Amino acid sequence: MQDALGGVQTVLVLGGGSEIAQATLRRLVANRTRTIVLAARRPDSLRAAADELRALGATRVEVVAFDAEATDTHEALIDDCVDRVGDLDLVLVAFGVLGDQAEAERDPAVAAEIARINYVGAVSVSVPLASRLRAQGHGIIVVLSSVAGERARRSNFVYGSSKAGLDALFQGLGDSLVGTGVRVLIVRPGFVHTKMTAGLDPAPLATTPEAVADAIVGGIERGTEIVWVPPALRVVMSVLRHAPRAVFRRLPL
Ligand SMILES: NC(=O)c1ccc[n+]([C@@H]2O[C@H](COP(=O)([O-])OP(=O)(O)OC[C@H]3O[C@@H](n4cnc5c(N)ncnc54)[C@H](OP(=O)(O)O)[C@@H]3O)[C@@H](O)[C@H]2O)c1
Repeated sequence: MQDALGGVQTVLVLGGGSEIAQATLRRLVANRTRTIVLAARRPDSLRAAADELRALGATRVEVVAFDAEATDTHEALIDDCVDRVGDLDLVLVAFGVLGDQAEAERDPAVAAEIARINYVGAVSVSVPLASRLRAQGHGIIVVLSSVAGERARRSNFVYGSSKAGLDALFQGLGDSLVGTGVRVLIVRPGFVHTKMTAGLDPAPLATTPEAVADAIVGGIERGTEIVWVPPALRVVMSVLRHAPRAVFRRLPL
């Protein structure tokens, strides 16, 4: 059982190109992480990121192809990762798309793609992932959810609903894994400055990939099940969650 950060030597990232994932890996490598598998839909784009992690002290960084939408490949992908590096101490589920809400309201293909990547892809990959970690008897699954999933807003309800599904999935999975040695850490950031949000007006309490990475590392060390980034969002969202619909829909969110 790897309870503390010092036990996290081997890490798999699903969505290896994520800026939040990259910031988290830099923190982990500064501790004891030495072996990393970056699973990404464009593996060739990760050469520089892999080199950076090696320069920081990772002894082995592998890049493999992963497409969240290719659900029929997910079981083989997890098998392949374990065959390459052995037991996985930590798996970071970091893939996702924000999508364009206005387009998603016009074009069913755009709306469905957001749901397929953020939710269906997560459901699919969680099955072989949970089986593998359950069999090895230890490990941590860290999943990047979002405050957007806490209550769907008028301005991005397609993305928000996909994150609500993802969050519920990993809450249930975490409960199902109690007693197996495997645990789940759900991370609920607000607006984070990454390529996903480039060009958008920052929301109040906007934060950075490094702050999310710190929250993840802190959550792993403390054995927490849910972290909000920044922490103040927990209070803000508990108020917003209970606001009457007629009020909530008028808020400039
Ligand atoms: N940024 C925010 O404000 C924010 C807030 C709350 C939660 N989050 C969540 O945090 C996670 C990481 O986001 P980020 O901010 O680090 O953004 P990011 O840098 O854009 O990372 C998202 C990653 O998902 C990958 N991806 C997209 N579609 C995929 C697919 N079909 N198969 C495999 N990978 C795919 C992207 O691949 P490419 O590199 O090929 O594009 C990218 O590497 C996401 O789940 C996001 O929803 C972000």
